[in-house]
Amino acid sequence: MKKTSVFSLVVILSLLLSACSVLQPAPTTLRGWADQRKFEIGAAVSIPALESDEPYRELLAREFNTVVPENVMKWDATEPQQGKFTFEDGDKLVEFAEQNKMRVRGHTLVWHQALPDWVAKGEWTKETLSEALRQHVSGVASHYKGKIYAWDVVNEAVGDSGEMRGSLWSNVIGPEYIEIAFRAADEADPDALLFYNDYGAEMISPKADAVYELVKDLKARGVPIDGVGMQMHTSLDDYVDQTSLQLNIKRIAALGLIVHITEMDVRIPDDFTPEQVQAQAKIYADVLRGCLAEPACQAVLVWGVNDKYSWIPQQYPGLGAGLLFDEAYQSKPAYQEWIKVLSEKEPPSD
Ligand code: XIL
Repeated sequence: MKKTSVFSLVVILSLLLSACSVLQPAPTTLRGWADQRKFEIGAAVSIPALESDEPYRELLAREFNTVVPENVMKWDATEPQQGKFTFEDGDKLVEFAEQNKMRVRGHTLVWHQALPDWVAKGEWTKETLSEALRQHVSGVASHYKGKIYAWDVVNEAVGDSGEMRGSLWSNVIGPEYIEIAFRAADEADPDALLFYNDYGAEMISPKADAVYELVKDLKARGVPIDGVGMQMHTSLDDYVDQTSLQLNIKRIAALGLIVHITEMDVRIPDDFTPEQVQAQAKIYADVLRGCLAEPACQAVLVWGVNDKYSWIPQQYPGLGAGLLFDEAYQSKPAYQEWIKVLSEKEPPSD
């Protein structure tokens, strides 16, 4: 073949290829958009719902590419008696994720809540509690080695004004408990991404400053930490600001850490108005847009698949309806906003 005809063949082929990619139908689900952007959109999963509710399972697998167990990987669920580990429920989620090609975030290895009595009411010294913590973190993280890509290792260690939260952990062991947990998790599963996770530290604030200082110090001392989880449980009365969120993500990124938005919901009154639903959708949009604009922010997870199983009504009586899908599995304006934000052109990275 002549050189010129080879050239024209190549030109025609590449034109055809680019026409095909333009003609590809746009995704119609969050998952479709997220996969296309190589971004993670996830939801917290309730195991009773997963086991009993087919529409729930379908919605979860259709709209999300990442899952996190709402409760079953917490301490009271995984080590209810000292040294006796129970992983059945957590394994069910891992299996569901494998069948549906989803990623699993692990939540959470050490927290001041969801502790079994043997821990909460035990007689401890600094040495014995440190050892029990090491054994727990190591037992859970090694069971899920290779199956969980990111762990919330330490949850909510900072108090609301930025002080170290008083808890069994900080009272008996001292702030070193954080480092003990990260080192044990890294030893058990060196490939998992290890996160510090907290609430109320998403926008710049005294608490966010304290979280920043905490992770900066861990990083500076070589403690194996990879990221910061921002829970993002919010209400219409909370200060949610995209610029402030981005500034906070930027300074964490400058430490060499990544960010996941780990537990988003936006609670509204039970007798909500259409305006409140729109205001909720705007908060959802601002947060996702802020995360997508920062390369260090790599995942956004909501704290529940739909309103039917949300923790909000129990935690905040009179409030609810905080998720992307309602009790009848129908998408809400927040969902349409997310589709819109995900379909926006990717901002140039700076
Ligand atoms: C909540 C669950 O949603 C509830 O079902 C449970 O009763 C209590 O815990 N921050 C966290 C999550 O890190 O683990 C909490 O989950 C919500 C607040």
